[in-house]
Amino acid sequence: MKKPVIAIDGYSSTGKSSISKVIADKLGIIHLDTGALYRGITWYALENCSNEDGSINIDKLISQLNEIHLEFVNNEGELVLYLNNKNISKEIRTHEVSDNVSLIAKQKEVRAYLLQSQRSIADKGGVIMDGRDIGTVVLPNADFKFFLTASIEERTKRRYKELLDLGIEADENQVKENLIERDKTDSEREIAPLKQAEDAIVIDNTHLTKRETIEKMLSYILKI
Ligand code: DC
Repeated sequence: MKKPVIAIDGYSSTGKSSISKVIADKLGIIHLDTGALYRGITWYALENCSNEDGSINIDKLISQLNEIHLEFVNNEGELVLYLNNKNISKEIRTHEVSDNVSLIAKQKEVRAYLLQSQRSIADKGGVIMDGRDIGTVVLPNADFKFFLTASIEERTKRRYKELLDLGIEADENQVKENLIERDKTDSEREIAPLKQAEDAIVIDNTHLTKRETIEKMLSYILKI
């Protein structure tokens, strides 16, 4: 039997990636965190394509896209992101990356560069992919589509805790501002904006634990 293809989209810090990881383990399928790919390109741009004032030179980045090789490596069950053979899994969570990633993600060349590799990963089935445009653009024929949402207060608490757990200093208000700003840019961009696919199952997990959200999603996937 072909294993399912599952798309998870939604607002920032609704738990998409950590939930997808658990569901992937339970179903024995692959998990792809597509946000990490956009973050990886953003980190590359900050390191290699900055203007003198510290802003990113988009033209320079676009001309160098072919030099960016992103790869997930399985390290004892944990998928670690490598950029040109360097482990960048911690770097992609920094504030600098979070503050610039939506600008990078709205460039059509960047989206086109990542589109084909995301699609080919799902060709054989057995994948859960989380992001912003998975159900609408990347995998419109996915077997299951979910769209996660939660209140801004709850999402701020979650992201703040995630940063502290990673050892990254954070200010709750700044975390909140970044989430609001990113969701706005991601929803309003011209290409592949963050939006709910018409056939997606919407789950508001403001008052649900991670485990409850997973159980709810599994009840649709396993039809229990
Ligand atoms: O899931 P995340 O917060 O790590 O994603 C970081 C950014 O990447 C997000 O603000 C928008 C962008 N993104 C996107 O445009 N399309 C995707 N499929 C995944 C992420």
